Amino acid sequence: MGLRKILTDKDPALHKACRPVTAFDAKLHKLLDDMRETLIDSNGVGLAAPQVGILRRVFLVDVGLNGEDILECINPEILETDGEQEGAEGCLSVPGKYGIVTRPNVVKVRAQDRYGKWFEAEGEGLIARAFCHELAHLDGHLYTEVAERMLTPEELEELMNEDGDEEE
Ligand code: CO
Repeated sequence: MGLRKILTDKDPALHKACRPVTAFDAKLHKLLDDMRETLIDSNGVGLAAPQVGILRRVFLVDVGLNGEDILECINPEILETDGEQEGAEGCLSVPGKYGIVTRPNVVKVRAQDRYGKWFEAEGEGLIARAFCHELAHLDGHLYTEVAERMLTPEELEELMNEDGDEEE
């Protein structure tokens, strides 16, 4: 058990590049377990380690969008992208806001699991968006830097009525 505090965009940790993970040890596993719990608790789609103050190249994406199928990506990199999607994007570290961001529609990533084994995963739509969003966190970037514009309060209300909150 260990909910971690999610930092907001004012925190310097969210604006720094993260270092690769080199030790796939108990400390990493504890971080991953805590991040999983924190992600589920916050109803997010993804969570990156710097959002909980750890400057390591680690993120989680809820690829099943149900809180049960959460993919742990360590030292991730994007292998391929395809297509384009424009849509609303939010972030647990930028609470209450959404912006319009264009992302690839399909993203293939390569990453290590908690034991250091390399794997590949492909995501489409919201999951592809989450892969890009979380990877940017590991380089100290937030979606607000690439958003075409932020949603108005009216658009925000409409979005909330549509599909609840999906933040990364
Ligand atoms: Co985010």
